[in-house]
Amino acid sequence: MKPLSIVQNLALKYAKYSLNRSLKTQLNLDILQNSKTKLPDPNINYMLYAHIPFCHTFCPYCSFHKYAYDENLAKEYFKNLRQEMKQIHTLGYKFNSMYVGGGTTLINEDELIKTLELAKKLFNIDEISCESDPSHIKPANLKRFKGLISRLSIGVQSFNDDILKRVGRYEKFGSSVDLVNKLKNAINILPVTSIDLIFNFPNQTKDMLLNDINLAKSIEAQQITFYPLMKSNLTKDKIASTLGNSYKDNEYEFYSIIEENFKDYHKNNAWSYAKEKSSLNDEYVSSKHEYLGIGSGGFSFLGGELFINAFNLNKYNEKIQNQQSSVIANCKFSSKERVKYLFLTEIFSGFIDIDKFNQTNNINLYKTLNLELNLLRLVGAIKIQNNHIESTQFGRYLWLSLMKEFYIGMDKVRAIFKDDAKLKNSSKINVIKSQI
Ligand SMILES: C[S@@+](CC[C@H](N)C(=O)[O-])C[C@H]1O[C@@H](n2cnc3c(N)ncnc32)[C@H](O)[C@@H]1O
Ligand code: SF4
Repeated sequence: MKPLSIVQNLALKYAKYSLNRSLKTQLNLDILQNSKTKLPDPNINYMLYAHIPFCHTFCPYCSFHKYAYDENLAKEYFKNLRQEMKQIHTLGYKFNSMYVGGGTTLINEDELIKTLELAKKLFNIDEISCESDPSHIKPANLKRFKGLISRLSIGVQSFNDDILKRVGRYEKFGSSVDLVNKLKNAINILPVTSIDLIFNFPNQTKDMLLNDINLAKSIEAQQITFYPLMKSNLTKDKIASTLGNSYKDNEYEFYSIIEENFKDYHKNNAWSYAKEKSSLNDEYVSSKHEYLGIGSGGFSFLGGELFINAFNLNKYNEKIQNQQSSVIANCKFSSKERVKYLFLTEIFSGFIDIDKFNQTNNINLYKTLNLELNLLRLVGAIKIQNNHIESTQFGRYLWLSLMKEFYIGMDKVRAIFKDDAKLKNSSKINVIKSQI
């Protein structure tokens, strides 16, 4: 990939500024004093997101909502998760795919199996994706999930022993050599296995990155994902104290190296590559615009509204046991901001069929984002032809940067709701401006 031109640099800066401005105006959350039930649109097949907030180890770069694993706590939680599933089934929700995220979703296999079986029984779900760390992927264990999990995403993060030691994963999940062996044994048991890596760690060199790319490819997994390191207020100090500070930002250069080395792979989206094109390649945000989140700390995006579930486990359990919705806050996006969100999540996969997109989302993309589409075309981020929008190479980096900003924005939501005792006396909160 060529170095970024002055115009492309300006476009990147402006796009990030614009996304942050949108987050500032839209993330004006109402803290709900009474339970609010989200009703489905009967014409939509949603994606079901279930959050499993437990880990044995806490990694310094990770801001996802989680608690230290305790078997009794987890059993009670999974039971409530199944109860919540029954509640939304009664409300009439329809789902054709499910994403189980964490945390560590395979942390209690018996409970996860019961939960996935119930999801399949209640809904017409034909695809289930789960995330795991490398300590729950022994072949005998994975075989138990045949016919249940269609795509397993395994967090490796890096094959560099020094990085693994610094983030506390070497002792827990093994050295680079151990990881390669574990992964080689784990692939081809479930239909799709994905290896998740992070790039642009402080002090990561080009050689370290190339070693990660080569080892990841040598495993022959169906899919490889390279996330750019995301730093938010929740994680930046822990990242600096374990991995050090970055004196130079290598993100674009390293992304170019990754792109160059995955030329022979199919591009699922701006950060994920597949050996072959498959319908299971979508990341949970891309192409699944409307999703309902269940579980503690889950988010939902339904009809242009964002809903946030109780983060506190006791509160979550109490709400479900009282047959209430788990939602504790929400905000409505303006119709233009909804379209911008839908556009970003769709173009992230590299391609938009405009008629299909308009029809699915009941919008008019040209009319709503005319100026934005023209600007993106002028800076060389997209090409528009025959009612199709296609992303260029520069576009791919732009979407990756914007998606990263979006996730960092969501970390601000997590930072506020992590300790929801502080929200007791608030009725409205602007996530970005908040000092909490
Ligand atoms: C929610 S984690 C669950 C993975 C699993 N528990 C594990 O540790 O292997 C899913 C993936 O998000 C990615 N991730 C987490 N924090 C990140 C960060 N700060 N920047 C970039 N990627 C991150 C990691 O690649 C991780 O494997
Ligand atoms: S990366 Fe995985 S194991 Fe580490 S804290 Fe995040 S969810 Fe837990």
